[in-house]
Amino acid sequence: MKEETFKKCVYVVLFLLIMLFYTKDIHFFGTHFYEHIKQIKEPNSISVLVNKNNQLAADYIPHDLEKISLDYANEEQYMRKEAKEHFERLSEDARKLGYQIIASSTYRSYTYQERLYHYYIETKGLEYADLCSARPGHSEHQTGLAIDVMGSNQDYDAFADSIEFPWMTENAYKYGFILRYPKGKENITGFKYEPWHYRYVGIKIAKIIHENNWTLEEYHTNKE
Ligand code: DAL
Ligand code: ZN
Repeated sequence: MKEETFKKCVYVVLFLLIMLFYTKDIHFFGTHFYEHIKQIKEPNSISVLVNKNNQLAADYIPHDLEKISLDYANEEQYMRKEAKEHFERLSEDARKLGYQIIASSTYRSYTYQERLYHYYIETKGLEYADLCSARPGHSEHQTGLAIDVMGSNQDYDAFADSIEFPWMTENAYKYGFILRYPKGKENITGFKYEPWHYRYVGIKIAKIIHENNWTLEEYHTNKE
């Protein structure tokens, strides 16, 4: 190969590498968050997908919310019956092994989420708010199937540093829960890593998601 041709090849490869670096986070063919919003038709489904492109009606309230026993919650907290029962079982089994896994935020109404989201905008700005707080109607806390947990270090934000986190990583799916916003999947979920936020999807689906290392979005795309 002539020296001139070789140089051209090097420049082309360098150019492509630079382009790849700057465009890796752009979804050329993917979904833009909050741009193609669909109304959710079956909000009571246990596997319901609520995210930046799938919205719950403002007046949706789950029909079977039940109060979590204060043995497993930091204050009055509600989840849908099936999710509540499975969480209490999880927390009880963990307790028998010396762990403390406590509900710190569960069902949130549309208006509560609206206030929370605006609080984040006012304190952290819109860009950051959209990474860590769902807009009203887009939070799966409104389904009564999501739960933010706290470990024995008493700080949900530092749950990843708690002794309970590795146990949850290994065992949550056995009770029907998945880590909803995993590290490295931010481009799919639209939210930053939240080691404290779990979502009840039922044991069968949680096992599939756990074994495939999927998000709920990937489960819905790949399921038959
Ligand atoms: N923090 C999660 C994404 C929510 O606001 O629902
Ligand atoms: Zn949460």
